[in-house]
Amino acid sequence: MIESARDRDRRALGRMLTIQVPGDKSISHRVLMLAPFAAGASRLSGLSQGADVAATAAAMRALGALPPDWDPRGEVTIDGPRELKTPAGVIDCGNSGTTARLLLGLVAGSSVSATLDGDASLRSRPMSRAFKPLVAAGAQVRQRGQPGRLPLEIRGGGGALEPIEHATGVASAQVKGALLLAGLSARVPVTVVEPAPSRDHTERLLRQMGASVESGRTEAGYRVHFSPPAELVPFELKVPGDFSAAAFWLGLAVLGGAGPGLRIESVGMNPLRTGFMRALEVMGADIEVEDRGEEAGEPVADIVARRSALTGLDLPPDWIPTLLDEIPILACVAAQAGCRLEIRGASELRVKESDRIAVLSRNLSRLRVEVKELDDGLIIEGSTGTLSGVVEAHADHRIAMAFAVLGALPENSIEIDDASCVDVSYPDFWETLAAVSGGGGAG
Ligand code: S3P
Repeated sequence: MIESARDRDRRALGRMLTIQVPGDKSISHRVLMLAPFAAGASRLSGLSQGADVAATAAAMRALGALPPDWDPRGEVTIDGPRELKTPAGVIDCGNSGTTARLLLGLVAGSSVSATLDGDASLRSRPMSRAFKPLVAAGAQVRQRGQPGRLPLEIRGGGGALEPIEHATGVASAQVKGALLLAGLSARVPVTVVEPAPSRDHTERLLRQMGASVESGRTEAGYRVHFSPPAELVPFELKVPGDFSAAAFWLGLAVLGGAGPGLRIESVGMNPLRTGFMRALEVMGADIEVEDRGEEAGEPVADIVARRSALTGLDLPPDWIPTLLDEIPILACVAAQAGCRLEIRGASELRVKESDRIAVLSRNLSRLRVEVKELDDGLIIEGSTGTLSGVVEAHADHRIAMAFAVLGALPENSIEIDDASCVDVSYPDFWETLAAVSGGGGAG
């Protein structure tokens, strides 16, 4: 988003800017993997334009589920139903764990085989949590790299795949999504039990397409049960704004780095995604939510955030799945706002795009913020002073963007070693940062 002359005038008058954020990345991946199986044309707009979703689009083209020239920009149509074909070469999932894990499921339930690979970060991330239950149901996996890591060759069980019943050790929407997609492509029922509910975008989309998906708490954990329908109906969807992208602007606004504040329009408000907002509110943030209804089963709202004085928080561990991707920005907000923030029960952060516990701890220390690294979290003693230093992003988009928010505060002087890694989820991030913060910004 580039600042217009009108925006500059509004800022000069001390008025609040209104911005939009990219389409939700998690929903965009799932739309590209589900719509080709509907009986008819799905009409879509607002898909994420980042490199992660581009990797999913390329994979679906290689698998014959999207036409060779299909592109996710603007208002687009996906025709179905389509059958998967064995791709000519290796599928490169880039930096995207969601692409890799969901594809493992989709291919496992089909009658084709594919080899999946990724960049150095993705090659280091655990894949066995997704493929082991698929192998137990009848798919075949050949490990072509380190055990349990990409590259992996997966051969679908097709019509012979068994119904899937699996209890996951961790709440993971990628693992749950992989199993649901395997059930969809093999037309077998799937039951997944998670220790806590992970984001439920796959379930919501499947329901939009006419499938029966039941979910609820049981003694064993949070249970999701899917029965494949005879036919999936196509859908229309304007993808809501990505809450995980909006989180950076909420953080900047409450820290006072966006003038009088910001209005962020049409943000997806799925309650399994908005834990960061809940945490900020408990810390004392001035945030208003204006309901904009639903978009294909997902709640959508405008959010207004203003500069606020914040207090500390012991993050309840059961909130972690609802704000896992937002811990970098939450840590940075606490560090700058002079708050004590205690995070426990978040060991999953160690296997994200980087080891986010270690990387947050190291970078906050470099900025001379007091921080203690725990096995499963962090304790941050925030300061209200000036922060300066060089931040190492470790090619992790959410680390770069979280520290860039601190770098945009006029009193700070922060350099990010790798600005381009934001492209995986938010190619316009730096332009928007310059616009909302009045031109400055780390980089
Ligand atoms: C995602 C699920 C989460 C999240 C990731 C996106 C998804 O990962 O951290 O950024 O779209 O399913 P896990 O499912 O591994 O927790």
